[in-house]
Amino acid sequence: MTAKYAVILAAGQGTRMKSKLYKVLHRICGKTMVEHVLTQVEKSKMDEIVTVVGHGAQKVEETLGARTEYALQKEQLGTGHAVLQTEKLLGGKKGITLIACGDTPLFTTQTFNELFEYHQQKGAVATVLTATAENPFGYGRIVRNDLGIVEKIVEQKDATKEEAAIKEINTGVYCFDNEALFDALHKINNDNVQGEYYLTDVMEIFKKQHEIVAAYKMKDFSESMGVNDRVALAAATKLMRQRINEKHMRAGVTLIDPETTYIDADVKIGVDTIVEPGVILRGKTIIGDDCVIGAHSDICDSVVHDRVSITSSTLEDAEMQDESNIGPYSHLRPAAKIGKKVHIGNFVEVKRAEIGEETKVGHLTYVGDATLGKDINVGCGCVFVNYDGKNKHHTVVGDHSFIGSASNMIAPLNIADHAYIAAGSTITNDVSAHDMAIARGRQVNKKGYYDRYPCAETAQKGKKN
Ligand code: UD1
Ligand code: CA
Repeated sequence: MTAKYAVILAAGQGTRMKSKLYKVLHRICGKTMVEHVLTQVEKSKMDEIVTVVGHGAQKVEETLGARTEYALQKEQLGTGHAVLQTEKLLGGKKGITLIACGDTPLFTTQTFNELFEYHQQKGAVATVLTATAENPFGYGRIVRNDLGIVEKIVEQKDATKEEAAIKEINTGVYCFDNEALFDALHKINNDNVQGEYYLTDVMEIFKKQHEIVAAYKMKDFSESMGVNDRVALAAATKLMRQRINEKHMRAGVTLIDPETTYIDADVKIGVDTIVEPGVILRGKTIIGDDCVIGAHSDICDSVVHDRVSITSSTLEDAEMQDESNIGPYSHLRPAAKIGKKVHIGNFVEVKRAEIGEETKVGHLTYVGDATLGKDINVGCGCVFVNYDGKNKHHTVVGDHSFIGSASNMIAPLNIADHAYIAAGSTITNDVSAHDMAIARGRQVNKKGYYDRYPCAETAQKGKKN
């Protein structure tokens, strides 16, 4: 078996992005561009992957971790110079080297594999992956001779008028015979408009050495889109989103309006789940089977089990068990764990709290730092008062208890099973099983007060009307 190596070029600053963030760390559907490239390269089963880092090297290495080796390019002297920095790791090894750029996030494993195959079939020393671009501006152009054989690659800035008119572009992906590649890299110079060492110049060197240089033209230009500015970032994001949405629909998920459904690359969704318009599913979110994710819900890094219904709500780092439901307009914050068949209604916020099976928290309530048992009814407008200005405290409520509306549970607090909290209570002491706690001022009715002071005048007006 021929050994396979890959080099990912990711050392550039990305001046045209006009950003504090290094170019390859800009995100597309929740994932940095360079991670998209690495993920597809990995699936191509490489013996070794080396990423060339420079600008933001530390950040890029933190992002990719141990999935790849690294070569540092201290000064960005061009793509040829960048590849040369991997010589210590790859030089002298027998095999084929795939080169891809960290700013072309849409390439797929399938295309890489096709390129490998073509390269081997042709017995070439170098094969460039090309595409036809409607608007080739900014890309290197593929110059072929009268027989259609690749002669060289010319950069936009170095192109003559005739060359600039060529629509076949260099996608920035190549396969090389590894040993020949490093030999040729030592022979390139920076004698061009940009004063850079162009990787693309190795093609001419191979031609002079009478070696076979091939070009594999892909059908779909869109896959090769290079992201150099924010306009291209948005265009690439749109294409990636379409690809992700189609994958889910083909796997049995209904998207009512894919155009307005935003699903990050690593999100998983079960069959027969329906996703309504305007939904955003982010990060590592996992959604089960037969769920309904209602319009404008925003779910990040959360786990939603089966047959769950979410209506216009926000979930962050939360979990919802089977057949639970939430919304509209509720918010699950980190470490909210919603049990089976739980009902969370509207305008409810839950943070670092567990809510047991079949419990209902219907309206306008805050549950923070609490453990609620099974089959509890929490009335409207309750507050689990968890913060004393300095520390957070915990409240426990036992199974089958009843929390009357407009109650405050001041933590730390233990309310046992089968306990009853009278509406409007501010509870500061523990409550035992089967007891009722009532903690509010007694009502006093003042006879005839309305007709005296201070609302007498208004009252008279009211009578006239
Ligand atoms: C490059 C190609 C061009 C091709 C296009 C495809 C060259 C000379 N040109 O142009 O033919 O059509 O990609 O998208 O190769 N990088 C480094 N170190 C450097 C310079 C660049 O690591 O010194 C990295 C960048 O981070 C980037 C990639 O190489 O990920 C491509 O560099 P970029 O400057 O974007 O090249 P293009 O002008 O797009
Ligand atoms: Ca580029």
